[in-house]
Amino acid sequence: MIRQVLRAGNPKLMRRALPVEQFDTPALHALVDDMIDTMQALDGAGLAAPQIGINLRVVIFGFRSNERYPDAEPVPFTVLVNPQIEPLGDLQVLGWEGCLSLPGLRGEVPRYERIRYTGVDPEGRSIDRSVEGFHARVVQHECDHLDGVLYPMRMRDFARFGFGEEIELARLASLQG
Ligand code: NI
Repeated sequence: MIRQVLRAGNPKLMRRALPVEQFDTPALHALVDDMIDTMQALDGAGLAAPQIGINLRVVIFGFRSNERYPDAEPVPFTVLVNPQIEPLGDLQVLGWEGCLSLPGLRGEVPRYERIRYTGVDPEGRSIDRSVEGFHARVVQHECDHLDGVLYPMRMRDFARFGFGEEIELARLASLQG
């Protein structure tokens, strides 16, 4: 079922979500199914449970191609429960992000270029991956939602924030000189 995505300003997005303690339950599978339906309906690259008002440490992400991130390499579709992130190295890079909780907006956000993430899938099976680039960015963005952090809270330069359509028009204009 497609659920309503909460928008920035809703206090439910600002909470620290609770760990999942029981796996492979009908309730957990129903939550994941709703998250998948919702992310697909909105053509998102990821979604965290708090964005549909559920205060649990569950994120989903992945796509083959995404209209909003035309240059991004594909990210395998993943359901990640109780995630933990460990930066691999100190390197942070700037990249444009959007969020279904801030519809239409984009901002340039610093993220670790390389991370290791661990967690489990809905059946409780271990996930352990070392990734980089856009894959690493998406995971950091989604896991931030579990701690009440939205991407503008990570930004350093609000001159690099605005409506996606305007930013794209400006980029095309600059290419034309
Ligand atoms: Ni988001």
